[in-house]
Amino acid sequence: MRRTALVGGGAAGIGRAVAEDLARAGHRVVVTGRRPAALEQAARELSAETGAPVHPMVGDMADTGAAAGLLARIGEEHGPLDVLVLNAGGPPPGSVFDLGDDQWRSAFELLLLGPLRLARLALPAMAQRGFGRVVVVTSTAVRQPQPDLAASVVLRSAVTAAAKLLSREYAADGVTVNCVAPGATATERRTQVLTSRALAAGRPYEDLVAEDTAAVPAARPARPAEIAAAVTFLASPAASYINGTVLTVDGGRTETI
Ligand SMILES: NC(=O)c1ccc[n+]([C@@H]2O[C@H](COP(=O)([O-])OP(=O)(O)OC[C@H]3O[C@@H](n4cnc5c(N)ncnc54)[C@H](OP(=O)(O)O)[C@@H]3O)[C@@H](O)[C@H]2O)c1
Repeated sequence: MRRTALVGGGAAGIGRAVAEDLARAGHRVVVTGRRPAALEQAARELSAETGAPVHPMVGDMADTGAAAGLLARIGEEHGPLDVLVLNAGGPPPGSVFDLGDDQWRSAFELLLLGPLRLARLALPAMAQRGFGRVVVVTSTAVRQPQPDLAASVVLRSAVTAAAKLLSREYAADGVTVNCVAPGATATERRTQVLTSRALAAGRPYEDLVAEDTAAVPAARPARPAEIAAAVTFLASPAASYINGTVLTVDGGRTETI
């Protein structure tokens, strides 16, 4: 049985790795993102690499008004949605006082309202069919605050709380909602964050990379595929009794017990 999965931010980084892993696990995958050309190319490459159907569909996670249309189109073109991976780009770096109201508002729409709207629309139909998986890609910033990523810390804590509440709604109908919290992961986003940190500190980028890496007991950033493996597991039937939790995938970096 081929299940249908929607993967946000599926053209690059963690989202692309998740799309690939879910396709290899036998899903029909719809990848979304804002840039049509990048999406089409990713879908073409992923279909060829995995032999599974991977379809592009332009969609902005922050555009709450577009969520219903996106889900309706997936239903019409690819069948009912079984797996929803709530992932997109990260918010702009900055400390809690650096960010202006407009930046807080757009980060709120990207990291909380957009994912919440999609989940709210998708969950009842999953419950009716007796199977559903929602996985929110967050960050270890919810476990160990990073002061220069204030929007991520604040709003990902909020979406983690929302995921916890959502996980209770249809738990008896086979629908689970969990978070995967990546640590340092080798993608464009990590390059952007470390570049911004280097600029703010007036220090060489390479030094910031070395420091960031030294803080990881595994002594390296994650490969996107290592984050994807956790998402695919939580999306699988094998994870049926894991609900409302946060799976940290960070090479041992987070300093909590
Ligand atoms: N990499 C890390 O070290 C790390 C660590 C912790 C948490 N995270 C988080 O994990 C998530 C994925 O990170 P990543 O490293 O894979 O990021 P990335 O390399 O920047 O890739 C982000 C992907 O999401 C898409 N995207 C961006 N904004 C979007 C939007 N509004 N709606 C839909 N798609 C959007 C981008 O394509 P378009 O621009 O075409 O839309 C791109 O394909 C982010 O939230 C990030 O903050 C990353």
